[in-house]
Amino acid sequence: MMTTATDRADAFHRRADEILAHLESTGQLKHLQMIEGPMDATITLRDYGEVVCLCSNNYLGLANHPEVRQAGIDAIEQYGAGTASVRFICGTFTPHETLEQRLADFYGVEAAYTFTSCWNANEALFPTLCEPEDCIISDELNHASIIDAVRLTTTIKKGIRKAVYKHNDLNDLETKLRAARGDEQVTGAIWVVTDGVFSMEGDLADLPKMRALCDKYGALLVVDDSHGTGVMGDTGRGTHEHFGMKGSQIDFITGTLGKALGGGAGGYIAGPKRGIDLLVQRGRPTLFSNALPVTVAASADKAIEILMNEPQRMQRLRDNVAHARQGIKDAGFDVLDSPTAICPIIVHDTARAIAMSKRLLEMGVFVIGFGYPVVPEGEARLRVQISAAHERHHLDALFNCLKKLRN
Ligand SMILES: Cc1ncc(COP(=O)(O)O)c(C=O)c1O
Repeated sequence: MMTTATDRADAFHRRADEILAHLESTGQLKHLQMIEGPMDATITLRDYGEVVCLCSNNYLGLANHPEVRQAGIDAIEQYGAGTASVRFICGTFTPHETLEQRLADFYGVEAAYTFTSCWNANEALFPTLCEPEDCIISDELNHASIIDAVRLTTTIKKGIRKAVYKHNDLNDLETKLRAARGDEQVTGAIWVVTDGVFSMEGDLADLPKMRALCDKYGALLVVDDSHGTGVMGDTGRGTHEHFGMKGSQIDFITGTLGKALGGGAGGYIAGPKRGIDLLVQRGRPTLFSNALPVTVAASADKAIEILMNEPQRMQRLRDNVAHARQGIKDAGFDVLDSPTAICPIIVHDTARAIAMSKRLLEMGVFVIGFGYPVVPEGEARLRVQISAAHERHHLDALFNCLKKLRN
């Protein structure tokens, strides 16, 4: 029997209700918390009041820094809300240019270009710079924006080869590189892409060894350092600096302005000028979407300036991270080891992670629990994130609450 137009629309509404009901009944429905003030070491949540915030990426505590705020205010006063246009038509303000030069200098590379998010940056990079004769090789635990960017690329540029290697497994990466070099279809570039700091594990990509493998097989190395920038390395340049590498040893670095670098929003690609020029000429998010809001550009620029002038923030973050990892262990929980500001406590069961997160919040400590499908089945976790803004008593509050959960 033919379905009517109304039946089809009803089918959608029914399906949406079923999915939401399933999420609710299996404890997977996300509830957005309402924050009633700025992001900082503590925040005010609707229904909960003031709580210690241990789930923001405000790694350097710059999101509510007076100079970062003021830079945004000054920009809106000088430029208004925006240009109401994409950048290549009439949408670029001086603060965009200033920020992009600042990013290029920060990484020691030729050029940088900003986007409204790092998601957008990743989705600009691969579809624009890769061609059908290329191959992209990606870590299995790369961020969703990389996974989707690679899928988009292989969909719109037919012929591009794709391979996924086991997480941080350099033998598997080499197997995939060797296969790409031996593939007659792959006559163009080979791209290897990885997160610098993996967002759910908090572990690091071994960039020196990856660089060596890329050089051996003539591949380009792309690193999304959204969680490493401002966190890793003595001067906060990121994961490459942690390993004693220069920014220019990575072919393209992508990152976000929505974490350590002010926390507003926005993303960027930094690398060789010819690559950035191609993105300006051909990137679809560049050609068909508005610029980063000028207030964010100015705030992010100020955040990077503060980061560069105050390396003690990174030291403070590192001290807090070491203290937090020890305190969590002393409270009787296993925390994945690494020098990053992401401290996952593996509790295995999704319902347990969610229940623990809820209990912690009731006790005044805000830590998010992640379960399947965000992380693999059986690896549910609480993800504790540390900031330079935390004082010891904020971390002690976490340890005390964890101990109560243990008892
Ligand atoms: C590794 C990584 N890449 C990209 C993103 C997306 O960043 P944005 O919020 O700027 O789109 C994130 C954010 O969670 C991330 O962790």
